[in-house]
Amino acid sequence: LDADGTRVFALTAERGETEFEPGVPSETWGYDDDHLGPTLVAERGERVRVDVQNDLDEATTLHWHGMQLPAAVDGGPHQPIEPGASRHPEWTIDQPAATLWYHPHPHEETEQQVERGLAGLFLLHDPAERALGLPSAYGVDDVPLIVQDVSFDDDGRRTGRATSFAGALGDETIVNGTRSPYFEATTELVRLRLLNASTARILGFELADGRPMQQIASDGGLLAAPVETAHVRLSPGERAEVVVRLTPGERVVLRSRMTSAELGGDDVLAGLNGGRDVFDVLELRAAADLTASAPVPAALADLPDLPGPDEVAIERRFDLHGFDINDRSMDPDRIDLVAERGRTERWIVHNTSKLPHSFHVHDAQFRIESIGGAPPPPELAGWKDTVYAVPETEIALLVRFDGPGDPEHPYMYHCHLLMHEDAGMMGQFLVV
Ligand code: C2O
Ligand code: CU
Ligand code: CU
Repeated sequence: LDADGTRVFALTAERGETEFEPGVPSETWGYDDDHLGPTLVAERGERVRVDVQNDLDEATTLHWHGMQLPAAVDGGPHQPIEPGASRHPEWTIDQPAATLWYHPHPHEETEQQVERGLAGLFLLHDPAERALGLPSAYGVDDVPLIVQDVSFDDDGRRTGRATSFAGALGDETIVNGTRSPYFEATTELVRLRLLNASTARILGFELADGRPMQQIASDGGLLAAPVETAHVRLSPGERAEVVVRLTPGERVVLRSRMTSAELGGDDVLAGLNGGRDVFDVLELRAAADLTASAPVPAALADLPDLPGPDEVAIERRFDLHGFDINDRSMDPDRIDLVAERGRTERWIVHNTSKLPHSFHVHDAQFRIESIGGAPPPPELAGWKDTVYAVPETEIALLVRFDGPGDPEHPYMYHCHLLMHEDAGMMGQFLVV
């Protein structure tokens, strides 16, 4: 904390090296580290500032994914940090407890910077969440999992990945930058904060023995109540928090298993885009003696009712096709829409293609009104900032921007498959 109570973080983007196998270094990038970045933690109501220094030899930016904050500090493509330069974004946290993250967002260069390892988590807490008694000892029973798909050569050196329509796909996943990871659990309940930080791969998390988990949160915070589920699909950029129950001494594998039906579209295309892949993600190793955990409460968060039809001020359509949105490619000099603050808008996102896409909106946590005409399943009924855009499906979002408004600095909406984003599958909006 500095003298006026602002919580100050410092992040320096730099090149580094990681030995995924002992003695075999691969080039990786990170923040204050050789790979990835530290987990930032703040409380609702706190003023925060991040001193971001760029020690790379190319320009970067730093975006706060899921954060509701002024457009001038959003860290999008209009806020580059040149090599050797720094920026000092500052804002007040004003949203519920959640698992957010940060990553670069430079114009047409986001995929390669994130792929090299520029990413980290930003956890928010609030008093209501703390009062629930959920597992919350960081690294003990509250465990962040940054999951990325990568490829290695036979010696264990990172290599390029095969390209699909979705983008580059790796042959295996790493967790928090570690190959073949395991976690030694010492408590009956373990809360896993899952982030799909892959650039293109859609992951489907499950325990290999099929036992259910309790999903307690989605992108923007806690669900109304825990949802018992055996399988959690996350497209790039999405997060979920799940609580897993362990028995003493056991080992169970958290894996990712996708099916072409779940990826959607067309069986052959889904297969080409990772829709049939299975990976071991993390082995959970339970100690012989596990500390008892308090049960997960039956009610988690007060979610407001969805706004009714007469509360929707305007409806907009976003057709996803090719690498375009509404047949247009990103133009940094064009504002695609202007939203009025404090008004509920319905955004109809229609993936009209057979290929996977996703849809992410800056500065907002939205609610899903419908997917393919049906209400969302309970795990998608909470706060979201990124949604998997199932091929040939229409998704209705209810979006509202409550921040200060700024007629000059735009926010972005885009596909979070980063090759698509870099190829122009992005638009810009002002909130006024
Ligand atoms: Cu996760 Cu516009 O970004
Ligand atoms: Cu974002
Ligand atoms: Cu896309």
